Amino acid sequence: MPPLPSSARGAAITGWGRALPDTVVTNADLEARMDTSDEWIRERTGIAERRIGGSTASLSIESGRRALACAGVDPASIDALILSTTTPDRTVPATSATVQHGLGLRCGAFDVNAACSGFVYGLAVANGLIAIGAERVLLIGTDTLSRIVDWTDRNTAILFADGSGAAVVEAVGGRGSLLGWDIDADGSAEDLLFCEVGGHLHMDGKEVFRRAVRIMVDSAEKSLAASGTSVDDIAMVVPHQANIRIISAACERLGIPMSKTALALAETGNTSSASIPLAWFAAADDGRLVPGDLVLLVGFGAGMTAASAVVRWTGAGRP
Ligand code: UT7
Repeated sequence: MPPLPSSARGAAITGWGRALPDTVVTNADLEARMDTSDEWIRERTGIAERRIGGSTASLSIESGRRALACAGVDPASIDALILSTTTPDRTVPATSATVQHGLGLRCGAFDVNAACSGFVYGLAVANGLIAIGAERVLLIGTDTLSRIVDWTDRNTAILFADGSGAAVVEAVGGRGSLLGWDIDADGSAEDLLFCEVGGHLHMDGKEVFRRAVRIMVDSAEKSLAASGTSVDDIAMVVPHQANIRIISAACERLGIPMSKTALALAETGNTSSASIPLAWFAAADDGRLVPGDLVLLVGFGAGMTAASAVVRWTGAGRP
C-alpha cells in the first residue's frame, strides 16, 4: 500500500480487552482421543493447551465490554462495530448484530471475514471509517473454531481453538498511530484451507506452512516500506499465532529476533481472528509495551489472505 496521506484523520487504540473460554484442552487430553502425543504437538507447533467453548457472540461481548471499560467510553458513543470472524453464530444475521445489542451499542455493525488475517483487515477498515468522520469504532476479533473442527482429525484438531480480543479505535489529532498497512489475498489457494457451510475444516498443512512464511514476510515488508520504518525500529512483532515454526521462520527471514515477538500460542492455540489481539493485548497487559513503541502486526490465513500493519503503541486508557 502507498504511504498514508498526510491529510488523513488519524486514529489510535485507546482501550483493549481479551476473553477466553473456561474449558482447557491440554495436549494430554488430545492424546487420549486421537493418535498424537504431547511431545509431537509441542515440537511441531509450539502449542501446549487451548481453550474451547462459548459462542462467537458471547466471547465478543466479553472482550468488547473489557475494551470499552479500558478506554473509559460510553457504549452509546461508539459509531461502528466491526467484528472479524470466520465462525459466525448464524449465517444471517451477522454476529456483530447480536454483539451490538449485547453491548448496548447504538451504531452500525458488520462482520469481516478474512480468516486469520481478519483483525488486521478490520484495523485498516476502522481507520478508514475514522478518516471519513467516525469518532470511535469498536473492533473485535473472535473465533470459535472448536465448532468447525473435526475432533477425530489430528491434522486440525491439535491446532485450532476459541477466543476473542477487542480494541477501541478512536479519532485523535494528527497522523494517528497507524503508520503503514497492507492487505492481500490469493483466492486461487482457497482449497488449501476451507470449510463448507455446515462442514468441518480441511487443510493441506504442509502447503499452508510453506506459503505462510512467504506471504507473512512479503506483507510485513510492504507495511514497513509504507510506514517508512525498518525492522530495527520495531519494538515488538505480533504474528498470527499458528505455529511457532512458521513464526520463527518468518522472523528469521525478516531479520527480527524471536525475543521481540508476542506469543500466546502455547496457551491459546490458533484462534484465527482472535490470535493477533490475544497475543498483542496480553503483551500490553504484561507491561511489555511502552507508549511510543512501534508494533508490527502480521497475519495470514485461509483465502489465502495476508495482512500487516505498523502501529505506534499509545498506551493505556484515553490519551
Ligand atoms: O491459520 C492458518 C492455519 N494453518 C496453519 O498454520 C497450518 C500450517 N501447517 C502446520 O502447522 C504444519 O504443517 C502441521 C502442524 C499441520 C503439521 O506439521 P508438519 O511438520 O508439516 O507435519 P507433517 O504433515 O509433515 O507430518 C510429519 C509426520 C507424518 O508422519 P510420517 O509420514 O513422517 O510417518 C504425519 O503423519 O507427523 C505425522 N503427524 C502427526 N503425528 C502425531 C501429522 N500430524 C500428527 C499429529 N500427531 N497430530
